[in-house]
Amino acid sequence: MAHLLVTGGAGFIGSNFVHHALERTDHTVTVLDKLTYAGNPASLAGLPADRFELATGDICDRGLVDALVSRADAVVHFAAESHNDNSLNDPEPFVRTNLVGTFSLLEAVRAHDVRYHHISTDEVYGDLELDDPERFTPERPYNPSSPYSSSKAGSDLLVRAWVRSFGVRATISNCSNNYGPRQHVEKFIPRQITNIIDGIRPKLYGTGLNVRDWIHVDDHNAAVLRILEAGRIGQTYLIGADGELDNRTVIEKILVAMGRDAGDYEHVNDRPGHDMRYAIDATRLRAELGWEPVYRDFDAGLTATIDWYRANEDWWRPQKAAVEASCAARGQ
Ligand code: NAD
Ligand code: DAU
Repeated sequence: MAHLLVTGGAGFIGSNFVHHALERTDHTVTVLDKLTYAGNPASLAGLPADRFELATGDICDRGLVDALVSRADAVVHFAAESHNDNSLNDPEPFVRTNLVGTFSLLEAVRAHDVRYHHISTDEVYGDLELDDPERFTPERPYNPSSPYSSSKAGSDLLVRAWVRSFGVRATISNCSNNYGPRQHVEKFIPRQITNIIDGIRPKLYGTGLNVRDWIHVDDHNAAVLRILEAGRIGQTYLIGADGELDNRTVIEKILVAMGRDAGDYEHVNDRPGHDMRYAIDATRLRAELGWEPVYRDFDAGLTATIDWYRANEDWWRPQKAAVEASCAARGQ
């Protein structure tokens, strides 16, 4: 049994991690979350009060972070500004939270010799051509494209330096695109599901030939738990479930699963600098730690996700109008 400090635990992946960890282990959890537009305390409803608490605050607050880290056995760092489109509108919060926030956590785990796991993204590697036989491996050089992905790449490099220079006991994971319940409606899959519920045609950026490597959020979080248990200090693990699909195919699957014509969507402005393709080789995670994805059927996972958004309109409705207004301002 351990006490985990989970940053960003009111966000999409972090909240699913807290539910997952409390169900499958006897750990206790403190969530540290600033509750930005992306954090929703409703995502943490129903958790056992004797094993869970929410501390509302900023990971850049060195004093607060130091106090919370001092009583943790391990830190799992999910908190971030996470949306590429927002990083193109205003990069500043990305630099602050993703870089300065990570620095603040690293200094605290260094001071208290606390185990640290850093959640990152496959986007640090840049993108692949559609016909490239290669997939991302941990040896691949970093080549990020957007303010978001470059701030995540920088945060990974801080972690590596704190391991090497100061002996911090850290691991890093870089995961591909997650889907599942409690994802903000600004992201691709929930945006299209909620558009269809609202009678709006789904919106495909550019040609829609861009490929993402989809993984269910619970498979991501099972891998994170496994790395916390048995990962090698200083090691980087890539997390992916062989889920490559182009955006057009995903939009067509959502339409069909929701009883609509597969072609009932529209093309909108492309994202500037839009990465073409991500693809993960998760061999190290599978071979070293014995992790395997459970959600191998994307269509079944998508249907369950659609059902979740249909059943939880109270959760997403307050965010929807602002997201659509911001997309409309970009012609998206
Ligand atoms: P999210 O935007 O849904 O949640 C981010 C959470 O961090 C929110 O609860 C927000 O309130 C909190 N937060 C933001 N700034 C903060 C600050 N300064 N102090 C404290 N809390 C703050 O993000 P997500 O999609 O759940 O992503 C979580 C992590 O996983 C991120 O590090 C992201 O880079 C990484 N990741 C995401 C994906 C994906 O597909 N969503 C894939 C790979 C990696
Ligand atoms: O690869 C991991 C990354 O996946 C994470 O690091 C990021 O935090 C997460 O947001 C996600 O980044 P993407 O930019 O790939 O996700 P997004 O949901 O914004 O878009 C997925 C794809 O869908 C992308 O090619 C852009 C496209 N898209 C997106 C939206 C919102 C559309 O075609 N239409 C849309 O309305």
